[in-house]
Amino acid sequence: MTDPFQHRGGALHAEGVPVARIAASVGTPFYVYSTAALVEQYRGFAAAFAGVDARIHYAMKANSNIAVLKTLADLGAGADVVSEGELRLALAAGVPPQRIVFSGVGKTDAELAFALNTGIYQINVESEPELEALSRVASGLGKTAPITIRVNPDVDPETHAKISTGYSGTKFGVPWTDAPRLYKKAAGLAGIDVVGVDVHIGSQLTKLEPFETAFRRVAGLIGKLRTLGLNIRRADLGGGLGIVYDSTNGAPPDPASYAAMVKRIFAPLNVQVMFEPGRYLVGNAGLLVGSVIYVKEADGKTFYIIDAAMNDLIRPSLYDAYHAMEPVKQPAAGAGLKPVDVAGPVCETGDLLAADRPLPPMAAGDLLAIRSGGAYAAVMASTYNARPLVPEVLVNGEEFAVVRRRPTYEEMSRLEALPPWLEPASGGRAKALP
Ligand code: LLP
Repeated sequence: MTDPFQHRGGALHAEGVPVARIAASVGTPFYVYSTAALVEQYRGFAAAFAGVDARIHYAMKANSNIAVLKTLADLGAGADVVSEGELRLALAAGVPPQRIVFSGVGKTDAELAFALNTGIYQINVESEPELEALSRVASGLGKTAPITIRVNPDVDPETHAKISTGYSGTKFGVPWTDAPRLYKKAAGLAGIDVVGVDVHIGSQLTKLEPFETAFRRVAGLIGKLRTLGLNIRRADLGGGLGIVYDSTNGAPPDPASYAAMVKRIFAPLNVQVMFEPGRYLVGNAGLLVGSVIYVKEADGKTFYIIDAAMNDLIRPSLYDAYHAMEPVKQPAAGAGLKPVDVAGPVCETGDLLAADRPLPPMAAGDLLAIRSGGAYAAVMASTYNARPLVPEVLVNGEEFAVVRRRPTYEEMSRLEALPPWLEPASGGRAKALP
């Protein structure tokens, strides 16, 4: 990927915009995304499947900002959604229902009904009770649900345990060995049209082999289901393609080699192949930018205490994830690096964005850019410690726009109320915050 965040004249830019200019305009911390990077990643993935009956459904859980969604939708991307909320956002961004698939282990009746009423392309069913619920809901609405069953192929994706899904014992999918029984049942149920097989084995995969093992199992299953008389015409192969977080760590497979492997396995089957990439499309299209509040020396260690924290980016705390970082102002030539801990203001030891990271000298007020902030970053943020969600900015060439603004403290407390017994005179409404 062409790095959209490069130093020019000593200052980090997001495409043509100095990051410091965005900081001066919106304040820190903030997320910034690059349109050029989104476009390049989507086009690169799509190009790998040129000439193939392939569909790309962006796994919007990675970044559901409506401007990011619309940027991808305008290029032709569909959406993979996992909740009614995501489905509503996808529709609001202009993704046609016929380009949306619905995944997830816990869809409620209300969500299934909402999805069916939109005319959604596909629902990926993850269990026998979900299949029964969907049959009941669809029949009740006089609709037919186009479904796949997500199979669990029992493959170790060789990624972080918390983002591995495709081995036995996780909550995901139906054991692939049990799938034929369930498919036969599905074929006989009212309101159900079996269209394909679905698989997703995990995220941030850095090798092709686990994908290949899983896909061969899916291909074998498709053959078997066809001999049972089922008209299987789609293979939804999920997401999971990894990205570079640490450039000293080697590169994950590129879409071309991933696509070559997929074509080898599925071309003979004459199915539509479907993909649900999330991280690959958006991960390295974003930065989190914070400011140093204090440089603290303690016990022979240096801490850069910055204004971004684990509530803004939880990946380092939750998955021990590595995010590359650098000062927005290029350090003077010859400035040495020394190991520092980069920590936020949240009152937890785990609020550490990097430990013993070699960084150049920085001072209070300096801006720090944290890379790979496009995927599973802003979407996983919380308001822990009553910290406002940080704004999101989209850059396009020389232009930038705030695509989600920082809420006010008043907005943050608007949904809360005092019960009558605590403040009878207020009529149950909490006092506005100062
Ligand atoms: N399809 C399904 C059914 C999924 O569960 C996921 C991700 C994807 C597609 C997209 O996977 P991707 O292409 O982005 O790897 N929060 C974690 C990642 C959780 C992934 C959940 N499922 C992280 O920050 O690493």
